[in-house]
Amino acid sequence: MDKTEEKIVKPLPKSGMSFDAIKDHLDRISMPEPYAHFARAFRGPKDVQEVGKYAFEKFMSDNGFFSLYLPYMQTIEQEVIAMGVSLLHPTENSTGNFTSGGTESNFSAMHAAKEWAKIHKPKVKKPNIVAPFTIHPSFQKGARYLDMEVITTDLDENGRGIAANIAAAINEDTVMVAASAPSWHYANIDPIPDIAAVAKDAGLWMHVDCCIGGYISPFLERLGQKLTPWDFRVPGVMSISADLHKFGYCQKPASTIYWRDAALQEYHYVSIDDPFLGPYKMAGFSGSRSAGPIFAAWAVLNYLGEEGYLNLTRRVLKMKEKFTKAVNDIEGLVMWKVDVMPLHFHSSKAPTSAIYQGLLDKGWLMLGLVHPEAITLPIDPALTDEDADKLIADLREVTETILKGGKAKSGDIRYG
Ligand SMILES: Cc1ncc(COP(=O)(O)O)c(C=O)c1O
Repeated sequence: MDKTEEKIVKPLPKSGMSFDAIKDHLDRISMPEPYAHFARAFRGPKDVQEVGKYAFEKFMSDNGFFSLYLPYMQTIEQEVIAMGVSLLHPTENSTGNFTSGGTESNFSAMHAAKEWAKIHKPKVKKPNIVAPFTIHPSFQKGARYLDMEVITTDLDENGRGIAANIAAAINEDTVMVAASAPSWHYANIDPIPDIAAVAKDAGLWMHVDCCIGGYISPFLERLGQKLTPWDFRVPGVMSISADLHKFGYCQKPASTIYWRDAALQEYHYVSIDDPFLGPYKMAGFSGSRSAGPIFAAWAVLNYLGEEGYLNLTRRVLKMKEKFTKAVNDIEGLVMWKVDVMPLHFHSSKAPTSAIYQGLLDKGWLMLGLVHPEAITLPIDPALTDEDADKLIADLREVTETILKGGKAKSGDIRYG
C-alpha cells in the first residue's frame, strides 16, 4: 500500500457531487473485508455492530457538549460510567468520565495528577511521571501538551515493569506513577499491587492504563483466569483508563477515565467563567462532540450485559487458542505468551517484516511492533472462523515461500 507522497491540491467543487457519485467513490476506496479486519479492530459481531449503529446514527447530531447539563444525555452518559465502573471493584465514591479514546483518557489522568500535585506536592517544579518502558506513547504525547516528562524504567524478562525500578526512578518532581494492565507491547499486566504500593509510599498519584484490558479482564477473571489484580481493589490506584472502543465493542471514539473517588474527579474538570458566555465546563477535553458514541456505548453495554460480554470473551479465548496453535505450527513462527490481548508473533527464521509485507501483498493490513519486530493480532469477535482460516492459510503460504528462498521484500511494520 503506497502512501500519498504528493500534496493534494483540490478546490471545493463548484457544484456538488451527486449522492450516488459520492457513494460510488466511498465504496471504491473502502478497504475490503476480511483484509481490513485489523484496521477496524474491536467491532464485535454483526448484531452488536447493528445495535451500536442504530444508537450512533440516532444521536450523531446531538451535541455531547451538553452532557453535563441536558438530563436525557447526562443520564445516558452517567449510566455508561456507572456500568463501566461497576466492573472495577469500585469504592462507594468511584466515578468517571466518557472520553474520545485511550489517548484522551490517559491525558485526563495526567492532567488531573498535575492539578492534584499543585496542592499535594507544591514544591514540584517540572512534574514527571515514572512508568515501565512499555507505557503507551500517548503518555509521551500528553506530557508534551502538559509540559511534563515521562521517565521510563526497565522491564523484567517477560516484559513487565519492576516495582524496584520505579521506586529508584522517582525523584522530587515526580507526581504520578503509571503502569499498564496490560501493555499493548507485550500484552502482559505489570505488577500493579507492587507498583501501586511504591506510589502510595511515595505519596504519588497512581494511574493504571487499562485501555485494552478494562472491558475484557473483568470477564477473563469471571471465567476463572487468574490475573494480577489491576483495578480499584488494589490500594493506592487512583485512576484507570479503559477503552469502550476496544474490548467494550463500542463505536469509536469511546473510552472512559475512572476515578477512585469523586473528589479526585474535581482535578479533572476545567471550569472557565467566560465574561460574555458565562460558565464553560465540559465532561472532558472536547467542546462540541457527537453524542453518537455515548449513546452507542449505552446501547452496546445494555445489549450485551454481563452474559453477552462473557460469551464474547469465550469466543476471544477460543480464537486465541486457534491462532496460537496455528501460528506455532508454521515453521519458524513463534506466538508470544500473553496475559490478555493483543496477540503478537515473530519469525525466528526469516525477517518478520518480510512476512508482514507478504501479508500486505495479499491484502491483509496488519499492525505490528518495530523493536523487537512482531506482527500483532488484535483478535475480536468480528473475525469469523472462515476469515481466521483464510488469514492462517495466507500466513502459512507467505512464510513457507520466504523460507524456501522465494522473493521477500522487507515491509514497513508499524503500530500506528
Ligand atoms: C495500553 C494502551 N493505552 C492507550 C492506548 C491509546 O488508545 P487510543 O488509540 O484509543 O487513543 C492504546 C491503544 O492501543 C493502548 O493499547
